[in-house]
Amino acid sequence: MAESMSGLRRTCLCGEVTEDMIGQKITLMGWVAKCRNKGGIVFVDMRDRTGIMQVIYEGMEVAGTLHSEYCIAATGTVRRRAGAPNPNLKTGNLEMEGMDLRILSSSETPPFHVLDGIDTREDLRLRYRYLDLRRPELQKKIMFRSRLVSLVREFMDGEGFLDIETPDLIGSTPEGARDYLVPSRVHPGCFYALPQSPQLFKQLLMCSGFDRYYQIARCFRDEDLRADRQPEFTQIDMELSFASQDDVMDINTALLGHVLSRLPRVYEELGFAKELADAARAASEKIKAEGIRKMPWREAMDLYGSDKPDLRFGMEIIDVTEAVRECGFGVFTGAIQNGGMVRGLNVKGQGGMPRKKIDKLIEVAKTYGAKGLAYIAISDDGKIKSSFSKFMTEDEMAELIGKMGGCNGDLLVFAADKFKIVCASLGAVRLYLGDQLALYDKNELCFVWITEFPLLEWSDEEGRYLAMHHPFTMPHLADFMHVDEDPGSVRAEAYDIVLNGCELGGGSVRIHMDDVQEKMLEVLGFSKERANEQFGFLLRAFRYGVPPHAGLAYGLDRMAMIFTGSDSIRDVIAFPKVKDASDLMIDAPGAVDEKQLRELSIAIAVEDRDTV
Ligand code: AMO
Ligand code: AMP
Repeated sequence: MAESMSGLRRTCLCGEVTEDMIGQKITLMGWVAKCRNKGGIVFVDMRDRTGIMQVIYEGMEVAGTLHSEYCIAATGTVRRRAGAPNPNLKTGNLEMEGMDLRILSSSETPPFHVLDGIDTREDLRLRYRYLDLRRPELQKKIMFRSRLVSLVREFMDGEGFLDIETPDLIGSTPEGARDYLVPSRVHPGCFYALPQSPQLFKQLLMCSGFDRYYQIARCFRDEDLRADRQPEFTQIDMELSFASQDDVMDINTALLGHVLSRLPRVYEELGFAKELADAARAASEKIKAEGIRKMPWREAMDLYGSDKPDLRFGMEIIDVTEAVRECGFGVFTGAIQNGGMVRGLNVKGQGGMPRKKIDKLIEVAKTYGAKGLAYIAISDDGKIKSSFSKFMTEDEMAELIGKMGGCNGDLLVFAADKFKIVCASLGAVRLYLGDQLALYDKNELCFVWITEFPLLEWSDEEGRYLAMHHPFTMPHLADFMHVDEDPGSVRAEAYDIVLNGCELGGGSVRIHMDDVQEKMLEVLGFSKERANEQFGFLLRAFRYGVPPHAGLAYGLDRMAMIFTGSDSIRDVIAFPKVKDASDLMIDAPGAVDEKQLRELSIAIAVEDRDTV
């Protein structure tokens, strides 16, 4: 019963109907969101991506056959609503008196209601993602993402950045995740790797003289997925020649300021909550007045236990190692003797926290490797409850509480371990408490540059130092002189941009001096042969007048996720993958037929592919 739309033309979108159009004849095309038949009068809520418009058909038989998700063309006259206005709709004061109706295509009963706020299981929604995407809240987010990209492009184009594409069928890149491989038919037994980022190509573009490059680039990483990670994702990727670390941070501070200052309008046009617009406005004003705060990595780790601190609230970590070095509590002194430290959090006003909730904090700490969490709870009238006071003298307790700034009514929690574990566990407890105790405004946007990352990171697994960012990251040259004696202390000219505790982007100044590069590869344990095999092309290019260069890449999906107030990165990706990296809608990945495998000279070694 589908009809053609021949002879009809859509005159406007549902959300674009305004009071000025009262009396005008218009044609809308869209979907039936809801349809009620009241004694021959049919009320249709018609939906397209801009909103909903109520259409009323009186005495039109075919209107009585409409059901949800039918795709229709409706022609009629705009008038003021006869019934009560609907304040939830942009067009809530209006309706259309339907004169003509064409069913462009009917719909089977959808597997779930195409409505905001539904509690349908996500796997079902993802299987029918095209229907899920009809829901206004998701449509808004996808439209937001598109507008966000436009704002980024507007800025980058204005600053003289060239948008240059780089290939997807390449070899391994140095981002450190597992590669996705693509077998070559023409070269049996050989594989392309999909780019984890355009890193090496953008550096080559610098060698070619394109001194300001950017790209909205697809990246592929075979890593464990989380709420803010997808196996394929998009970067706003850039590289600049003759630029220092400050130059890159300055231009990106300006980029963020540009985007944020224009977001309030986007939010308003797309119908997002006012709080988001207010937050963007406040952040853009703050950036305009003060720029974006810079914090050395060490300070971020010491105070917040994380290289991506959430600065929407305080509750900084306090080091008490010296205060407890000689105390009677073996857990503390033992950790210190083992080269560790003791640090704590003062949870203001939570001295009365019930034991169950404290146990929950201990549990959080333990998931980050801590062996426990010692605590002192100070009641409002100064009585002390503590898991370790029996091992301490009164003076030792008083000194410790003093060092922590503990007052009546406070809860003090402590972790004793190596630096990494103390940071990770107290950092996690801090975030958990911030959330539980609602210590911050969820909509606030709090940016910070993290600088002076360590160049190298010790890997217990590999028993050697690895590059924390990648092997082409420029060290602080003064530190690098001592790389042989103390590799762990060398800082890098690397920086991350962090927003609300999320790593939004990262980058670095690259090494352009061959002696530094050679030394760096030696420190990382690359033989000349292996370095040549993996990125000989880059090292070769550097022999022909490489300019000093630096760059950065943002995770566009993460940016869109935070800016739309979403909890999951999947909300801002039209067709995302689930935790096991499969696409439920198209059933990928899937087996391929023998012929394809033969062409690729590939034999499958496992018997039961599904269980592997
Ligand atoms: P990095 O590896 O830090 O740097 O990546 C840059 C940003 O990309 C985002 N991101 C991801 N987003 C979604 N899913 C993922 N699996 C994922 N992995 C990373 C993050 C991250 O901050 N070539 C360098 C950049 C440079 O040095 O210029 C790079 O890729 O937001
Ligand atoms: P125990 O003597 O092991 O029963 O521990 C006494 C208290 O110290 C308990 O509250 C433990 O949770 C806590 N604790 C144990 N190990 C650590 C640690 N490494 N850091 C901080 N507290 C700990």
